Amino acid sequence: MSVQPPTLSPQLHDLITTMPKAELHIHIEGSLEPELIFELAKRNHVSLPFDSVASLRTAYAFKDLQSFLDIYYAGASVLLKEQDFYDMTYAYLKKAAADGVVYAEIFFDPQTHTDRGVPLQTVIEGLVRATKDGARHLGLESKLIMCFLRHLSQASAMETLNAAEPFLEHLVGVGLDSSEVGHPPEKFIDVFAKAHKLGLKAVAHAGEEGPPAYIWSALDQLNVLRIDHGVQSIHDEALLARLAQERIPLTVCPLSNLKLCVYEDLGQHPIKRLLDLGLCVTINSDDPAYFGGYINENYLQTFQALELQAKDAIAFAKCSFEASFMPASQKNEWYAKLDQHARLHGE
Ligand code: ADE
Ligand code: ZN
Repeated sequence: MSVQPPTLSPQLHDLITTMPKAELHIHIEGSLEPELIFELAKRNHVSLPFDSVASLRTAYAFKDLQSFLDIYYAGASVLLKEQDFYDMTYAYLKKAAADGVVYAEIFFDPQTHTDRGVPLQTVIEGLVRATKDGARHLGLESKLIMCFLRHLSQASAMETLNAAEPFLEHLVGVGLDSSEVGHPPEKFIDVFAKAHKLGLKAVAHAGEEGPPAYIWSALDQLNVLRIDHGVQSIHDEALLARLAQERIPLTVCPLSNLKLCVYEDLGQHPIKRLLDLGLCVTINSDDPAYFGGYINENYLQTFQALELQAKDAIAFAKCSFEASFMPASQKNEWYAKLDQHARLHGE
């Protein structure tokens, strides 16, 4: 019988769940809960290959990234109207605000929708209206990052970027997601170069299942400012030294790594080793409706499995603001609030 780590103290639980934090790695389509999938399917007369919420949930047993993506794209097929994109996004923002998220940078996958005939404008207008309402009613500021699907061609990504030009004021950056292995960052050099010219910031998924070489090429060939996941960097000492030296953030998603079988249990997760090596590491939810929890659940399960301390929680939250695309003055305000939060909790 394996020995379970002790449960978190009520003090640490409270410090984690109430501290202000930023979420930097959330796919909005991955926040679509089964109940909302069924509600939207009914509203839009879309038929699903599942007959109930319960049978859909039982399909959430993944063996790797691709087995998840197949179901994730099927779930997104119920999104057709501006109101659908609004409802999905506002539902996420409410959950995030309840978890102490004060700022979010939200990924969306336009090609998943435009390939089904949904206009890009419909997608962006729904997301933007929800983020405005989130700021006004929930006090949660959020920005949008438009991701390219790496299993599709660079030409398709370029077409998407061109179509997004009228909406650039609503985007903070571009990202790269979907099936990683076999689709290295260098497949997208031209589209990322154009995004930079348009004034967009860039991030990319790399080293989730793929090798450290993909992290090097995301940095050197796509000029990204952050790496999403990046956990495979643990196998490359020179890369770890560079990430630490240049404070290139990793947006890590522990429950995602667990559910997609990157690690057999959270006790094996390298997140604490990465933090102790001097990297800027953040905790995020990735696709919370599919992976068993939102950001606080990611913190709590990681802290329990790795027996982490209050100082680690404050360090991750500080990294979340440091790694964000908010202005430096706003970052400093959040660092001060976090210090105050730690003091109030006796740290
Ligand atoms: N799209 C949604 N979730 C993803 C993940 N974990 N990796 C790559 N692409 C994704
Ligand atoms: Zn992701």
